[in-house]
Amino acid sequence: MSNSLRVAVLGPKGQCGQCVVDELLSRGHHVVGISRSPPKVWPKATPEQFSSIACDFSDIKSLSSILSDGGFNAVISAFGPPLTDMKDVYRLGVEGHGNIKMAVIRSTYRGPFIIIGGAGSLYYKNGVQLCDDKDFAFQHWYPWPDAHLDYMSARMIDRNQRGLGIFIKLFKWARNNREQPNWFPWLLRPFANVIMHSAKKTLTDPVMIGLIYCSRAALNMWEGVRDIKWSFLSPPWQLRDKGIRTGKYEVYVDNYAGSAEPAIHNGIYNEDLAVAIVDEVENNQLHYKHWTCTGPIGLKAW
Ligand SMILES: NC(=O)c1ccc[n+]([C@@H]2O[C@H](COP(=O)([O-])OP(=O)(O)OC[C@H]3O[C@@H](n4cnc5c(N)ncnc54)[C@H](OP(=O)(O)O)[C@@H]3O)[C@@H](O)[C@H]2O)c1
Repeated sequence: MSNSLRVAVLGPKGQCGQCVVDELLSRGHHVVGISRSPPKVWPKATPEQFSSIACDFSDIKSLSSILSDGGFNAVISAFGPPLTDMKDVYRLGVEGHGNIKMAVIRSTYRGPFIIIGGAGSLYYKNGVQLCDDKDFAFQHWYPWPDAHLDYMSARMIDRNQRGLGIFIKLFKWARNNREQPNWFPWLLRPFANVIMHSAKKTLTDPVMIGLIYCSRAALNMWEGVRDIKWSFLSPPWQLRDKGIRTGKYEVYVDNYAGSAEPAIHNGIYNEDLAVAIVDEVENNQLHYKHWTCTGPIGLKAW
């Protein structure tokens, strides 16, 4: 890569944003991080390589002028709504994605724009979107390997969501108690059943999984839009951070016939997701597409 690009990352310190910034910097691009309280400096990066601008995306006018005046070659949205109040996640998510869309379209920026959404909007081969499948999301957590449940629990605790972290640990214990009854004393079975019953209630409650529905709404906002060269990346169902950068990934473009279904059953490390995103920034091949990518996971323990 000979040309250094100037790239804006909306949400630079989030789970996805961090890896994208690291990958961009490692390839010699200049990054401008934009969020309410972005880091002022980036580890091992000089001010010429990384700078930041504080902006709440609800201020559409400010975000729009930042994008108009920034001289950016590419913009990536790694925005995600705060998970502090689950009852408000859907509203904050839809509003945030909508505000970003308005700001980008109202700005004079006309380069590529990559939005990171969620796996819930990927289609199965039978034409059903993952988040519309029966008993979503309970049935889709249930077969997760222990390693992924351990990861999800660790991630929640890392993000100060201790309650959710403990809920996931209990889910794993109860699921395993039910699936491998010989390993657990029968006396504990009623507790496992109670936990599973409550997990099903929680994981099929649209309020509790509002993050997934708001990401689908974000995708719907872009369909048919041609004012700007957007592309929408839904990470696969199992996305893990603090992984390993292998540089290996497979891209799938989603459609109603389920061409991206492998991403519903597989995953990727955040580090490799970032490789795919920065490759797209450099190569611009997926305009107006809903795409996803999978890669090797399970290469280290959680
Ligand atoms: N398997 C999957 O499908 C999967 C898994 C994980 C994530 N995702 C998706 O990936 C995307 C990014 O998620 P993430 O987990 O990386 O997010 P995250 O860790 O929660 O980070 C969100 C970022 O958004 C910024 N932000 C939030 N509200 C803002 C506001 N009002 N104004 C400006 N900045 C704001 C935050 O920075 P400040 O606090 O500084 O504002 C933060 O940098 C989301 O669409 C999420 O649904 C998908």
